[in-house]
Amino acid sequence: MSLKTLLMIKPDGVRRGLIGEVLRRVEQKGFRIAGMKMLQFDEARAGEFYQEHIGKPFYQTLVDFITSGPAVALAVEGDDEERLIPEVRKMMGATRYWEATPGTIRGDFAHHLTMNVVHGSDSPASAERELGIVFEPNEIL
Ligand code: RTP
Ligand code: MG
Repeated sequence: MSLKTLLMIKPDGVRRGLIGEVLRRVEQKGFRIAGMKMLQFDEARAGEFYQEHIGKPFYQTLVDFITSGPAVALAVEGDDEERLIPEVRKMMGATRYWEATPGTIRGDFAHHLTMNVVHGSDSPASAERELGIVFEPNEIL
């Protein structure tokens, strides 16, 4: 069975014209794109999406950022259940942009801790939860 994960181009990535760049990398690597949509997060959806970060010092900054403009969500599918999420996360690069390796999305494009171009689910459980927040079931093909 194939697994799907959420890779999302955050509002800074959309503003900077990096939708195509991220899509190119995902396709070039050979992942299948099973869903794609542009969406505007409101406070309620942002709160649900980032519930694991509630109470952290950067929470409100994160919610303000993710609601600041449209994001582009991709449901990314890969054949290898064990490796899909680590592979996508590796492609994204480290959260702390100064530690992100050149060649990764963040390594090549991020220069801010909050505005770091992409979001990626970090486990199969979070992938299922996050895909469910962003996509209707019939939008994943
Ligand atoms: P993401 O959820 O966006 O894929 O990123 P991640 O797993 O690499 O990082 P996570 O720890 O889940 O943090 C979520 C997002 O919050 C912002 N952040 N700010 N200390 C800070 O100010 C701080 N730490 C994290 C980033 O936008 C990060 O992607
Ligand atoms: Mg995360």
